[in-house]
Amino acid sequence: MNWAINPVSKLAGTIEVQPDKSITHRAIMIASIAEGDSAIKNYLPADDCMRTLGAFEKMGIKADREARVLRIKGAGLRGLKKPAGAIDAGNSGTTVRLMSGILAGQNFSSEFVGDESLSRRPMKRIIEPLSKMGAKIESKDGNYLPLRMTGAGNLKSIEYSSDIASAQVKSCVLFAGMYASGTTTFTEPEKSRDHTERMLKVSGAKIIETGLAVQIEGPAKLKAVEMTVPGDISSAAFFFAAGLLAKNSSLTVSNVGINPTRDGILDIMRRMGAKLGLTDKKTASGEPVAAVSVESSKLKAVEIGKELIPRLIDELPVIALLATQAEGTTVISGARELRVKESDRIETVASELKKMGANITVKEDGFIIQGPVKLKGSIVKSHADHRIAMMLAVAGSIAEGRTTVEGVECVDTSFPGFYELLTGISRK
Ligand code: S3P
Repeated sequence: MNWAINPVSKLAGTIEVQPDKSITHRAIMIASIAEGDSAIKNYLPADDCMRTLGAFEKMGIKADREARVLRIKGAGLRGLKKPAGAIDAGNSGTTVRLMSGILAGQNFSSEFVGDESLSRRPMKRIIEPLSKMGAKIESKDGNYLPLRMTGAGNLKSIEYSSDIASAQVKSCVLFAGMYASGTTTFTEPEKSRDHTERMLKVSGAKIIETGLAVQIEGPAKLKAVEMTVPGDISSAAFFFAAGLLAKNSSLTVSNVGINPTRDGILDIMRRMGAKLGLTDKKTASGEPVAAVSVESSKLKAVEIGKELIPRLIDELPVIALLATQAEGTTVISGARELRVKESDRIETVASELKKMGANITVKEDGFIIQGPVKLKGSIVKSHADHRIAMMLAVAGSIAEGRTTVEGVECVDTSFPGFYELLTGISRK
């Protein structure tokens, strides 16, 4: 399926974006192994999160999928049943990497498979710590799906130092730590998103955070989850960019999660000179939220280094688009992880934006982008990557002439309804 995107003269309105994907995944996982009945309000019913839910249903979990509330009957840490057949995680890296931590602690074996993109993504990063904890894992070339896990029942607690800042690896080890006795410690080079730590604490697990280290005390026992999921800042980012780049625009995204480990995009927009305001700040279910308003702005280039990358990793495609419209040279470094996302985002961002006339040089670990450049409507493709598809739709809305974005089915993994929302607030 393709999208036809026409240039817009103005964007206006107050919108909400889809609920947070990272938080929804974690809420489903924690609810499934908690004691009692959980209610997850405003969950994300997109394909990635439903893969996680489907995986737990395959292991005997009963869930009631209402329109806005997901009710899950927890089975406790030890109540999951061996799944019949392989678990298909589709496109979802979070499903495989986080759930592996839980499956490593089971008394049964299990297998993950996934789509073509997921089958190319590295799993050694979780295989290594989980093997140290006592799980037996077989995978293609020691790194790729299919991944066959023989759980160890009781795992060994470890002290693990990761050389990449990855919330998926951290969460995997913390989940596995619940099935070990004693203290499991995970240390990362930069702070990655901390939703798992926040939710585990609320559910009664003993979590201690000291700088870049997180400890969990096992064995854990979790209380049921009662929460409301905030809007996803990674989904909102496309609308921030659209509002800043389109002329005569003023746009508010309400109820956006602004967790400080996720809000690097706000800092970058400010540094670029964006007209940006935050109102209605509050904390909901342990996560800070706010309404974020943007107005058409003249932007300037920025330098983004390694220390900031984990706080805006998923927003880098849209930040690259902002940089094409900013005055000066934007340099993004330390973002090698982009190469192993749903697509090689360093290549896919550069190749598609270049088709529209952008001046981008690819680096091993980022981009050099020269702006501002007037983008031209073109035929571009998503490379089966939701965030590339959405970034290109925003690019099309400020380009001259019509843009066709090819292969947009992938957007359903995180943001069903994106196109309708964008076109609904666009004025020709
Ligand atoms: C996620 C962590 C990040 C992010 C991904 C979701 C999570 O991945 O890119 O979209 O929910 O923990 P890494 O942990 O691989 O950086």
